[in-house]
Amino acid sequence: MIELQVKERRRRTLSFRRTGVSAECQVADESYVPRVVLKPDAAKKRIAAALEKNALFKGLDKEQINTVIDAVEEEKHKAGDVIIKQGESGLYFYLLEAGACEVWLSMHNARNPQMVKIYGPGDSFGELALLYDAPRAATIKASTDCILWTMDRSTFRTILMASTRKKRNLYEDYLQNVPLLKTLDKYERSAIADVLEPEYFVAGKEIITEGTPGDKFYFLEEGTAEARTRGAVVMKYGKGDYFGELALLNDEPRSATVLAVTDCKVVSINSDSFKRLLGKLEDILQRKKTEYAAATASTS
Ligand code: CMP
Repeated sequence: MIELQVKERRRRTLSFRRTGVSAECQVADESYVPRVVLKPDAAKKRIAAALEKNALFKGLDKEQINTVIDAVEEEKHKAGDVIIKQGESGLYFYLLEAGACEVWLSMHNARNPQMVKIYGPGDSFGELALLYDAPRAATIKASTDCILWTMDRSTFRTILMASTRKKRNLYEDYLQNVPLLKTLDKYERSAIADVLEPEYFVAGKEIITEGTPGDKFYFLEEGTAEARTRGAVVMKYGKGDYFGELALLNDEPRSATVLAVTDCKVVSINSDSFKRLLGKLEDILQRKKTEYAAATASTS
């Protein structure tokens, strides 16, 4: 049995290992006054670099990014520290700049936690309690020494809450009905929703071109498409189908052209997010290769 201990119960006191001087204004979300934690330019650059790696900050404009850079506060943890404890209330959202953190989930009782995920640089966590005013849904433990940037509840709710909720709600039903993702839990699907980028293709346009390098994986959200190799149709796609996985899985050029048959809306995932979020589905994805080989053989 793994004992998860909160080592620093009073970690939110001023004596905690932090840098920067807080000129915090704790206010209600409606009357948000931007929080400014003074920090050197070098720290601002590090935060900007960490934000760039994280999909939740993608849609923010320059002013919002600067608000975030001003508001966050550095927090350092030693390997083994518990940063968030499942069941407790939550005040902060965390962006991991350096190090690794484990996610532990206690399903039915607190005695049997399972490690379900490891976060690395650029990942973030702690959003659920702030989004839904709920207790912490998992325990997060530093597996190495870590540097984190913490964002207070008011800043999170003012800057990130609406866009994060909107994206998760928008794709919740769609992703729930994608057969490939059936074995993932709700939280894993919402992590996918966070990184989806919509793209539109008119009928007749190539979404993927055979022989070119591949950097994205696609789900078809609306319309129909087909895959062709050497001009022959080898696969037809409808809503909920996916394509573009082979080049990313096997580091090889695109093995077919995928063409929009009708006007299409696709949502894509970049190569890094694909490996991070869909890595555990690799077996299912690789099995598809046999299907492609059979379809290609039957056309030649
Ligand atoms: P929160 O509930 O605020 O605090 C714990 C965090 O763990 C949670 O937000 C998520 O950011 C993160 N987490 C990672 N994996 C899971 C999971 N499978 N279920 C719930 N939370 C998870």
